Amino acid sequence: MSASSSALSTAGFDFIAGLARSRSGIVLTPDKAYMMETRLSPLIRRAGLGSLDELVLKLRGPRAEKLTQEVVEALTTNESFFFRDGKPFEHLRRFLPTLRAARGPGTRLRVWSAACSSGQEAYSIAMILQELGLQAGPAEILGTDISMEMVERARSGVFTQFEVQRGLPVQLLVKHFRQIEGGRWQIADALRAAAEFRFWNLLDDPRSLGRFDAIFCRNVLIYFDTETKTRVLDRLAGLLLPGGVVYLGGAETVLGLTTRLVPVPGERGAYVVA
Ligand SMILES: C[S@@+](CC[C@H](N)C(=O)[O-])C[C@H]1O[C@@H](n2cnc3c(N)ncnc32)[C@H](O)[C@@H]1O
Repeated sequence: MSASSSALSTAGFDFIAGLARSRSGIVLTPDKAYMMETRLSPLIRRAGLGSLDELVLKLRGPRAEKLTQEVVEALTTNESFFFRDGKPFEHLRRFLPTLRAARGPGTRLRVWSAACSSGQEAYSIAMILQELGLQAGPAEILGTDISMEMVERARSGVFTQFEVQRGLPVQLLVKHFRQIEGGRWQIADALRAAAEFRFWNLLDDPRSLGRFDAIFCRNVLIYFDTETKTRVLDRLAGLLLPGGVVYLGGAETVLGLTTRLVPVPGERGAYVVA
């Protein structure tokens, strides 16, 4: 492990990696030791501790629940951008009106962004729903994440200049955002009101969330082991309403993991119940 003053012993690494895996499903192999040290050092400073091994001692002690949650959050990768990978959003734009027509008027469509990070995915969906005239009322968007910091950021609807430059066409920036202090951008109230954000751990049984017409579970399964991927995918399949779709990230698949979902022919990243 590294030779920095806060270097982590192998036992310490194993303990923290074990916590991340049991609490969030995230698998950290020994080559991630440097990443672990980098991500945990701000937390170590904030907690007034001297080293990673001191942090481990604290985590092993009593009343460590809050600190444990902070450690797990710090180890999540929250990279996201608007309309990421394009295709799933194009599919959603074509698919929702058809689904609504099949369901009949008065039906409420439900879309879940299941690892929403700072909200770019859920707000991309909200822009599409508004464009389709389905925003607020006929449709509902739920964004969830294991990181409370991300959930709060998503709720605020505030993005940096860098973030709005990633994936968001300039016409949509001008239409849906206003510039605020510090060069940041605030999303329009109507879009902010269209999405609800809350804490949710994908390892938990999601049945209390209700069922959905579309589930975006993208760029999160890549961090899990095979068994966890299978468990999550099977549960997502069980949450889909008839005719519903699950969207996965570009590097993710159901192949070899579950037979409950199958790819939509010709639609990259889209899966339906087998
Ligand atoms: C790389 S981001 C993907 C964001 C968005 N879905 C996208 O594709 O742009 C992965 C997110 O998954 C969240 N995450 C990791 N493990 C999770 C779990 N067990 N339950 C819920 N969210 C989790 C992380 O906090 C992070 O915000």
